[in-house]
Amino acid sequence: MSVFSLERDLEFSHTVVNDVGLPYNKALKMEGLEFLSHISDNSIPVCFFDPQYRGIMDKMNYGNEGVRQKLRAKLEQMSEEVISEFIKRIHQVMIPSGHLFLWIDKFHLCEGFGDWLKNTSFRIVDLITWDKQKMGMGYRTRRQVEYLVVIQKEPQRAKGAWKKHDIPDVWSEKVKNSNHAHPKPIGLQKELILATSNENDIVLDPAAGTFSVMNAAIATNRRFIGCDISYGELYGIN
Ligand SMILES: C[S@@+](CC[C@H](N)C(=O)[O-])C[C@H]1O[C@@H](n2cnc3c(N)ncnc32)[C@H](O)[C@@H]1O
Repeated sequence: MSVFSLERDLEFSHTVVNDVGLPYNKALKMEGLEFLSHISDNSIPVCFFDPQYRGIMDKMNYGNEGVRQKLRAKLEQMSEEVISEFIKRIHQVMIPSGHLFLWIDKFHLCEGFGDWLKNTSFRIVDLITWDKQKMGMGYRTRRQVEYLVVIQKEPQRAKGAWKKHDIPDVWSEKVKNSNHAHPKPIGLQKELILATSNENDIVLDPAAGTFSVMNAAIATNRRFIGCDISYGELYGIN
């Protein structure tokens, strides 16, 4: 098989991934670390993690916030320690050579987030820039892109673990306006799921927001498992 093989040959057990019967393909309202404690070690091939950064708004000291920014401020924010804890636990539940897709803000991308990967076998293997095709905020330039870091548990390899080779590293996709702060592009997430998993595999998101990853997983015939601490409270999507 060549490096550009279209096969994914990762072996892992299809046994139950959790001990308390958490349902698949359902939006759960639950704290993410508590949720992850019920997922078996070495059972998940694909995980998306989109932390609630304090990031941009705090760092730029915006005043004068609109309705959407006020909703944003109400979302549960994650400290550096909490993000580290999530990543450590995600590392445990993933299968060898499994992929973590981590959404990252501008500041962490530039200043570094190596500490979050400390004491894990996670390594950065790629970076995707999402062009949202609309302008956001900014005191200097106005934000139009977001970043997705592709991280892999050891052994790091593309052969047999990544089976789609036509995904550009700049991805343009417009997402419908939503009251939720950060809905991510379903089209891109679908492509990444197709690249790194097989039908019926389990896709995980422990801080799922609008559950865009769930929609992407179902649309690609995968099973989704995930939660959000504030599901239904702020988004009007019960
Ligand atoms: C950036 S948003 C995720 C957006 C999501 N990727 C989407 O496409 O809609 C981060 C989410 O993390 C949730 N969150 C914050 N702390 C959490 C925790 N401890 N456990 C689970 N979810 C948490 C917030 O409620 C928020 O919805």
